[in-house]
Amino acid sequence: MPKVLRINQTLVLPGSRKSVLVAARLIRRGGLVAFPTETVYGLGAAATDRSAVKKIFKAKGRPADNPLIVHVAGLDQVKESAASLPPGALHLMKRFWPGPLSLVLPRSDKIPPEVSAGLPTVAVRMPAHPVALSLIRAAGVPIAAPSANRSGRPSPTSLRHVLEDLAGKIDAVIDGGPCQVGLESTVLDLSGSHPLILRPGAITREQLEAVLGVPVAVAQGCKDGTPPSPGMKYRHYAPRAPLLLVAGARPRRRALLAALARHYRKKGLKVGLLRAPTEPEGLRRAAKRLYQVLRGFDAQGVDLILAEGVSARGLGAALMNRLRRAAARTIKV
Ligand code: TXA
Ligand code: MG
Repeated sequence: MPKVLRINQTLVLPGSRKSVLVAARLIRRGGLVAFPTETVYGLGAAATDRSAVKKIFKAKGRPADNPLIVHVAGLDQVKESAASLPPGALHLMKRFWPGPLSLVLPRSDKIPPEVSAGLPTVAVRMPAHPVALSLIRAAGVPIAAPSANRSGRPSPTSLRHVLEDLAGKIDAVIDGGPCQVGLESTVLDLSGSHPLILRPGAITREQLEAVLGVPVAVAQGCKDGTPPSPGMKYRHYAPRAPLLLVAGARPRRRALLAALARHYRKKGLKVGLLRAPTEPEGLRRAAKRLYQVLRGFDAQGVDLILAEGVSARGLGAALMNRLRRAAARTIKV
């Protein structure tokens, strides 16, 4: 029998077929398993098991009014999770699944209200990572999974990040290497009269509009006090040091960033600097590395993070959204 690696009772499994079977058994028995997806690591439990789902909230320290995404491996499981498919849903699934797009649909009775924090809807997504897909298939149930971080911490994009936050609080984690996208999925609400992006991600508004053939709006926070998505009211992705975001046209924001860095370093502060990519291909790399860099700053014990904004087009919209939400303050120049 090969030696089994456990860290504080949490089973650490390599990304193999055998691991997937072990993890699927844990899920079927009501356990919690963290697993890799192409976006970030998820913390999974059987979506149909009320008490297992409650354990997710406890392990993460997540407020009970923030709903979870249900992960599926096929259309059969979409039909199990959703009461109906609004217009456009199937087209989007065909075009973007498996991939970083979550669709908010009317919730079926098979999914307990705890998954959706009591909402009549459910967010559903088919992840593109082979380990995630085979885990869901082997478990034989849709898997409810938020990002596998302690609530309020940057999302985990590697095994190490998951263990930092959740070792000892979950049954197992499967190693799938670093996540390729690095930012959480686009959340698109199809349950209302118009499609609405609740959270920007790697599937862009432009891509969604091209498939749906109608304009797609982006939710703008909570003007009347009720956020369109419960997740929007929480300050997320927060590193320990305060993050100051400098937005605006490139030459001006660069100049201010450099001046601020000099100023605070002269005062004796340890400053972490997060520069925007200069070429378009760099955007993908910046998204992939964002949470790793933020966690790295925490580990180095920086006093202040200075981050340069990017233009909010395409993937830039998702990156800017995460930076804004991590920021203690944003300066526009
Ligand atoms: O890429 C991802 O989406 C990752 C991986 C693991 O799949 N998951 C993830 O889950 O980021 P989480 O729980 O960290 O974020 C889910 C977001 C939250 O902002 C939540 O409020 C929103 O989706 N959400 C989930 N269900 C919803 C619903 N029924 N209506 C509105 N918003 C919903
Ligand atoms: Mg999260």
